[in-house]
Amino acid sequence: MPYDFDTIPERLGTDSQKWQKYPGKDILPMWVADMDFRSAPQILEALHRRVDHGIFGYARPVPSTVDAVVSALEARYSWKIDPSWLVWLPGLVVGLNVTAQAFAQPGDGVMCCTPVYPPFMTAPKNSGREAVAVPLALRSADQRWEIDFERLEASVTPRTKLFFLCNPHNPVARVFRRDELVRLSEFCLRHNLVLCSDEIHCELILDTLPHIPTATLGAEIAARTVTLMAPSKTYNVPGLGTSFAVIADSQLRATFVRATAGIVAEVTTLGFAACEAAYRDGEPWRAELLNYLRDNRQYLLDFVAREMPGVTVEAPIEATYLAWLNVSALGLPDPVAHFEKHGVGLSEGAFFGERRGLHVRMNFGCPRSTLATGLERMKAGVLAARGGA
Ligand SMILES: Cc1ncc(COP(=O)(O)O)c(C=O)c1O
Repeated sequence: MPYDFDTIPERLGTDSQKWQKYPGKDILPMWVADMDFRSAPQILEALHRRVDHGIFGYARPVPSTVDAVVSALEARYSWKIDPSWLVWLPGLVVGLNVTAQAFAQPGDGVMCCTPVYPPFMTAPKNSGREAVAVPLALRSADQRWEIDFERLEASVTPRTKLFFLCNPHNPVARVFRRDELVRLSEFCLRHNLVLCSDEIHCELILDTLPHIPTATLGAEIAARTVTLMAPSKTYNVPGLGTSFAVIADSQLRATFVRATAGIVAEVTTLGFAACEAAYRDGEPWRAELLNYLRDNRQYLLDFVAREMPGVTVEAPIEATYLAWLNVSALGLPDPVAHFEKHGVGLSEGAFFGERRGLHVRMNFGCPRSTLATGLERMKAGVLAARGGA
């Protein structure tokens, strides 16, 4: 393997949010969604070159950066975009907040399917809009999390203005299929909703499934879609704050851009350099990363099935490096606190919009030995819970 995903990088004592959470404690952080891997060498080289230039003025993307993004979208998703459709952003959460302010008024509803990445619910509330959370349905027939269209219809009102889609979905790791996306588009068109499609995990699909940007489904839905994307998750550069919205419709785009005016920071010189290298040169590294994550996924699934009675992964992990683990059979009032006592730091299911005690999320974007340690620690917690300890 030309790239090294096995070496454990030293992140303790660095600026890492993930590793700063448990100062002085032996708790392995497997919570926030960044990976314990060095970024692609192609990106590191581009950053070195940019640093060597030595001047870090206010930045605008150069044509080669735009071209790298435009070409990648066409090559990977047959999505031909015009460069003018791109709006650069310092983060996707910024994009969610801007979208809520741009396309809904105070008191209006912004719909999403839960459990979901917490900002889907907090972004609307930050500006006095209402989050309308509709639970995903776990269908036992095909063992997957699905959009519950009956409940969407029952929950939508004339005050609902926006739909926040997460595809691939964090935390349930679903890749929505064409028929599901078509049905969702029809729902948005019928109820006159703007669709904000967060596709930040779209290059982390582990199964042989295509990513379908919602905006590629047809002209009508494209005209009311804000797609949010970034190199951050895939290439492990979220700290560089570089993402973008793709908005085909000029009016929609103008409304979005107006909502950013004066409050949304520019993307930085280093962010643009990393983004260009990621999309243009990062493919060989990404391919190896996906292989490594697939093996990690299998290791985790085998371990949970074999060693953790009472813990289940209810549906296939189709994408992302996040495992949504059902721990409800353990009967723990506060599973995250319990597992922290056993030395592993997970994400709390309740943050994703469900009742505490049902799920925890484990980040398996790390060297295999780190994953093994985290799982062993979790197993100790499971056995203690079952023994009543
Ligand atoms: C679905 C989703 N959107 C957005 C983000 C964060 O994006 P950013 O760091 O660009 O704000 C994450 C991070 O985990 C995520 O999972």
